[in-house]
Amino acid sequence: MDAHPKPEILLAPGALDAALRADVRAGLTATPKTLPPKWFYDERGSALFDRITRLEEYYPTRRERAVLTERAAEVAALTGARTLVELGAGSGEKTRLLLDALDLDTYVPVDVSGEFLAEAAAKIAADYPGLLVRPVVADLEEHLAALPSGPRPLVAFLGGTIGNMTPAERHRFLTAVRGLLGPDGAFLLGADLVKDTGRLVRAYHDAEGVTAAFNRNVLRVINERLDADFDPDAFAHVAVWNEAEEWIEMRLRALRPQTVHVRALDLTVAFADGEEMRTEISAKFRPAGLKEELTAAGFDVSVLWTDDDGDFSVTIATPASV
Ligand code: AVJ
Repeated sequence: MDAHPKPEILLAPGALDAALRADVRAGLTATPKTLPPKWFYDERGSALFDRITRLEEYYPTRRERAVLTERAAEVAALTGARTLVELGAGSGEKTRLLLDALDLDTYVPVDVSGEFLAEAAAKIAADYPGLLVRPVVADLEEHLAALPSGPRPLVAFLGGTIGNMTPAERHRFLTAVRGLLGPDGAFLLGADLVKDTGRLVRAYHDAEGVTAAFNRNVLRVINERLDADFDPDAFAHVAVWNEAEEWIEMRLRALRPQTVHVRALDLTVAFADGEEMRTEISAKFRPAGLKEELTAAGFDVSVLWTDDDGDFSVTIATPASV
């Protein structure tokens, strides 16, 4: 089949740029200041994230891979999937576990970044002749309902990225995923679990400082794309466990009072000494809570697996029979 599948683009031209501008203006003028984690992932940020997934301290990627390796055949048997729609298609390693186990006609990788997506899709198309690969450039917050699908769809959202959403955002997102699925569809969700606080914090504050560089990278992205003058070295990386919300918060703490100009927005922003700006939440789940959230969004939970240490979960959910 087509060796160089051309991504279908649902993202309107300029839409990402407009979203970046709106997010940065809203986030830097809010109290406390925030920036959404979506903007970490330029080429440098994606490379740093790739390094994070191989860090000793960062267990989620390895644990999820362990579950998928052990359970891939069961995913195939339980879902009978013929179409895989992968939301936030990443580097493709875990994708291959699924592609090897499932008997698929169609693979729909979905990502906001067109370059990475086209490259990854071409590699997969080359390695899986006979598989129809239909990459789609889309914003998961906006275009879920417009995604192409196929017979017996399995929608996968892996890596624990659901942790970037607040409970209200998750409800909206899960409900939209549910809306995508007919009665023969299924949803495969990877979610990180609540565990020892020390381990959680270390996973987001590694000894080598890779996560710190990843966190500060959002400032470089804003410098480059919005002609700003952040000094990334003037901010310290902070990772804290928010016990009440059960999520990790990453923040950047101003190491001295400073003024930043975001010229493309005609915006001047003052940071007080020690001021903290939140850059990411990474929510951790309990199996019971996860099942409740899926149920509230119209799913039945077929199975919830974890790795042997109970660190990370992979769930299959299907549309609830009404
Ligand atoms: C890609 C959102 C799953 O929350 O663990 C890793 C991102 N941030 N280290 C996560 C991340 C800091 C990651 N997700």
